[in-house]
Amino acid sequence: MKLIFLGPPGAGKGTYATYAAKEYGIVHVSTGDLLRAEVKKETELGKEIGEIIQKGNLVPDRMITDLLKKRFEEPDCKKGYILDGFPRNIPQVHILKDDNIEFEHVINFTATKETIIKRLSGRRTCKKCGAIYHIINIPPKKEGVCDKCGGELYQREDQKEEVVKHRLEVYEEQTKPLIEHFRKEGSLIDIDADKKAEEVWEELKKLLDQLYK
Ligand code: AP5
Repeated sequence: MKLIFLGPPGAGKGTYATYAAKEYGIVHVSTGDLLRAEVKKETELGKEIGEIIQKGNLVPDRMITDLLKKRFEEPDCKKGYILDGFPRNIPQVHILKDDNIEFEHVINFTATKETIIKRLSGRRTCKKCGAIYHIINIPPKKEGVCDKCGGELYQREDQKEEVVKHRLEVYEEQTKPLIEHFRKEGSLIDIDADKKAEEVWEELKKLLDQLYK
């Protein structure tokens, strides 16, 4: 199973990629997570990346492809993967092809701007295992603590309303054109992610079970 998850920030790509990775025994490769891990290392590169992410802009293509190439060399990727957050512009689609990164389907998660802004402001992530929660929609059992590993939950730096709005503009300009690209290619499947999380997951699971039975 080799999939790409596409959609605006806050549509739920990370949430459903985590669920699907667990259900189907494949890996969730998130370019956002790879970049944030680099920021955590506090290297020169990490500092540069951190500043770009905080402003809600895309990092230069080469920076992300080097990290991605390294990740794909790890043996767990052989079992299958969900690529979440890449490609994000047309040049990255060419990189995908040039670097022979394989995929069978592109799942496009759709959600309205209003939903996205509400979701991102309530989003919390586990510092330890990366699990994603929402303080109202998908709350942890104990406030501030991850249900899965007991890790501390935190709010990402790029979740402030002005930054979220800018990320949405970047999405509209640079990432949205990919929908038509993959639709023409015949690999795109839409999922309405404006529904309740359990309903979206049910729909996705049904789709993947049909595609890979
Ligand atoms: P990245 O980490 O990829 O962020 P994003 O795509 O902007 O998306 P998010 O992670 O914010 O949202 P999501 O769709 O995964 O939704 P989530 O599951 O969290 O990228 C961050 C930055 O890194 C970029 O801005 C850029 O700077 C850089 N970057 C990354 N990739 C790059 C690339 N290829 N090239 C260049 N730069 C790159 O869900 C959101 C919230 O909603 C959660 O709280 C969740 O619990 C909740 N939720 C989910 N579904 C539902 C539902 N159905 N009902 C109610 N709540 C729900």
